[in-house]
Amino acid sequence: MTSFLRPLAYRYRWIYDTVTAISSLSVGGVERLRNLGLEALQSRIEPGGPVLDLCCGSGEAAAPWLAAGFSVTGLDISPLALALAARRHPSLKRVEGLAEEPPLPDQSFLAVQMSVALHEFPRHERELVLRQSLRLLKPGGWLVLVDLHPAGPWLRLPQQLFCALFETDTATSMLEDDLPAQLQRLGFTAVNQELLAGQALQRITAARPTTDAPLP
Ligand SMILES: C[S@@+](CC[C@H](N)C(=O)[O-])C[C@H]1O[C@@H](n2cnc3c(N)ncnc32)[C@H](O)[C@@H]1O
Repeated sequence: MTSFLRPLAYRYRWIYDTVTAISSLSVGGVERLRNLGLEALQSRIEPGGPVLDLCCGSGEAAAPWLAAGFSVTGLDISPLALALAARRHPSLKRVEGLAEEPPLPDQSFLAVQMSVALHEFPRHERELVLRQSLRLLKPGGWLVLVDLHPAGPWLRLPQQLFCALFETDTATSMLEDDLPAQLQRLGFTAVNQELLAGQALQRITAARPTTDAPLP
């Protein structure tokens, strides 16, 4: 179930951008929000290496990686979002496709980023997307997830309001799940979770093991 505001926010870009600007205040503003993936992984990834921004939307969270000199591919299901990404960030390589079935070869990337997108998927598909991220990473490569987390007492009410107005049931179901444990189960290693923005956001980093053991 979702409110009438969600389709409007996806249709009219200024609504989406305004909502993002307001909801990112608790983490230090929209620029910081967009930078969280790069900030976590920059020192672990070979400079200029291949990076995938899964569910890239208009490419705003890919932009810091591009500015830092990485070779960034953005995948999204929405041709509209990809067209906007082409205008805003022309150096982003764009792929239209499903995150559950990315049309990309195994072990293509040193890093895979998902910025505020995993909560869009129902539980079963979320697992598929995480499995695909593992498949796409080179051994020793890193995944970074930035997404919602159950807020602490100060932001609990605003988060509930935000989810009711702009999110679907998939977001509330993700809030019930233990993502670090799920990543470990799927075969990721070195899983680390940080809570940000009064616990309303989580940033998780996890690696693909360097061994050649078959993926679970
Ligand atoms: C909340 S937006 C986040 C966009 C971007 N990562 C950011 O940080 O601004 C979620 C994005 O996921 C995309 N998306 C939703 N379901 C998808 C799917 N099954 N495969 C690929 N992209 C999908 C939407 O089109 C949308 O652009």
